[in-house]
Amino acid sequence: MPIQPTEKIWRNGQLIPWEQANIHVMSHVIHYGSSVFEGIRCYGQPSGAAVFRLPEHMQRLLDSGKIYRMVLPYTLDELCAAVVDVIEANGVAPCYIRPIALRGYGEIGVNPAGSPIDVFIANFPWGKYVAGHGGADVCISSWNRLAPNTMPALAKAGANYMNSQLIRMEADINGYAEGIALDVNGLVSEGSGENVFLVRNGVLYTPPLANSALSGITRDSVLTIARHLGLPVVEQSVPRELLYIADEVFFTGTAAEVSPIRSIDRIVIGDGEPGAITKQIADEFFGIANGLRPDRFGWLTPVKVDTAVTVTA
Ligand SMILES: Cc1ncc(COP(=O)(O)O)c(C=O)c1O
Repeated sequence: MPIQPTEKIWRNGQLIPWEQANIHVMSHVIHYGSSVFEGIRCYGQPSGAAVFRLPEHMQRLLDSGKIYRMVLPYTLDELCAAVVDVIEANGVAPCYIRPIALRGYGEIGVNPAGSPIDVFIANFPWGKYVAGHGGADVCISSWNRLAPNTMPALAKAGANYMNSQLIRMEADINGYAEGIALDVNGLVSEGSGENVFLVRNGVLYTPPLANSALSGITRDSVLTIARHLGLPVVEQSVPRELLYIADEVFFTGTAAEVSPIRSIDRIVIGDGEPGAITKQIADEFFGIANGLRPDRFGWLTPVKVDTAVTVTA
């Protein structure tokens, strides 16, 4: 989906015109993939708009930077305020928010220490991410997720997404909406940009973070909602074939939200329809995000926007 530009982008503490938010081709990030970033959604509410789990996302940005010895020159509160500022300046909601911290123009050579750290925050409209209304047809990827102690999977780093691109392109070329990658030991890890859950006999399972999965904020939201609903929840390693015989499988992610999976490798999951537990969790998730159910976990940060731009699925 083409990017729909807005007016302003936040750069190192200033709001600048969208078209001026450029970097030099000799910036460290271009050559060595040295960036950490976030993806956040701002949802429409009955009386305005609100960002979903803003502090948790910005904390993960700081954590990703910390893993790469990239100390961002802003506090958590400053980064959260910057997100609110750029949304309010652009007046675009609902929207997707993309903060990114990168190693900029300074020195050539792998060691990033001599390159400056630049922080940008953009927001723009973005609709549904995983295709398939009644459930997506996905595959198990021939590509593994990042091996432990190679590229840190808990850092949401730009470089990790070369692996995600391989998973996503392979799925696309073979006619699937998305790929699920296994870790180097053959256990289920995650999609190219989503965490994975399955339901079997009324129990909700998701792989633990040690299986090379990102610590998804939506994953955490779903675990919290499931516990609140009294559903049994287990974080445990998942063999590939458990997905095939699950009653329900779904993706979670900021972009994907809660997205049911209809088939995996052309094996139909359950009866091929979104399952009851998936629906129960999705109803609560979207109910909170859209302000139609109480914000019982304190997940929403309100923003003041005059214009509500409708994002189509
Ligand atoms: C590889 C990967 N896994 C999982 C997720 C889901 O994370 P979140 O729910 O925080 O968006 C994402 C998206 O950010 C991702 O890129």
